[in-house]
Amino acid sequence: MTRHFLLDTDLTPAEQADVLDLAIAMKADRWAHRPYEGPKSVAVIFDKTSTRTRFSFATGIADLGGSPIIVNPGESQLGHKESVADTSKVLSQMVATIVWRTFEQSGLEEMAENATVPVINALSDDYHPCQILADLLTIRERFGRTEGLTMAYLGDAANNMSNSYLLGGATAGMNVHVAGPEGHLPASDILDAARERAAQTGATIRATTNVSEAVAGADIVVTDTWISMGQSDPTGQREKDFAPYQVNEDVMKQAGPEAIFMHCLPAYRGKEVTADVIDGERSVVWQEAGNRVHAQKAIMTWLMNESARNARER
Ligand code: CP
Ligand code: NVA
Repeated sequence: MTRHFLLDTDLTPAEQADVLDLAIAMKADRWAHRPYEGPKSVAVIFDKTSTRTRFSFATGIADLGGSPIIVNPGESQLGHKESVADTSKVLSQMVATIVWRTFEQSGLEEMAENATVPVINALSDDYHPCQILADLLTIRERFGRTEGLTMAYLGDAANNMSNSYLLGGATAGMNVHVAGPEGHLPASDILDAARERAAQTGATIRATTNVSEAVAGADIVVTDTWISMGQSDPTGQREKDFAPYQVNEDVMKQAGPEAIFMHCLPAYRGKEVTADVIDGERSVVWQEAGNRVHAQKAIMTWLMNESARNARER
């Protein structure tokens, strides 16, 4: 069975811990792992724009001995002249892994169903699991663990980052509190899945409209843009709705004394976060961005190893 990483719960708690251990080892010894030696090619396809994901995958694939093939929005037949299924079968003949940033999660599922190589979600409308691995690595570096810590996410609590924090954070044994306005809280199936995972790891999940309730004593305060790729705010209504959920010094004061600030970036200073917080001493956003390389090298290597092991045992 080929293993894929389409959403955070594709990894069990033990598997996620293994991937994070691997990421720490890879960061300490950057060129020691060569699963793409050859070089083997890796497809990195973007239906939406990117800075961090593009550079971190290209860098990580090169570190692993491979050769990235970057496809920018609109540059291939995928989606308009050729189906996802046909594209998946073709790419499986050529590349060692398929990394794809797209809109609908169902597209990633179709890609994986038809692929004989690992497929990795590089952000969809629903999830951003690679970002969460990088964030968990950063949290481990800072606190030495993830279990028992509390993360408070403020803002668009129905977007891809919120969903992935709920699922990936629960998998890591973290208490995940998300706060956003009515109409922008997580879907019930996401909360159910997060609570199911949290029950296995001893974590708790909370979704609320109340900022203070979410952030009280938190170890990590995190936010994301109020307008994700593919969304717009022509009337300014979203900005009005989300304004009370801005992360500023008053919010950080309500968190724990050692609390850090995280943001997947790109950030909009003066909107979801103030400049004094993101550029202040509690912020770990640059370390977090750099950790994309190491976390993604780990998940690529782990998926390659697991898929090969499963093929041998068949
Ligand atoms: N955080 C993140 O995924 O950034 P990019 O959109 O620049 O890839
Ligand atoms: N929620 C954001 C994350 C960007 C990395 C978006 O989807 O645009």
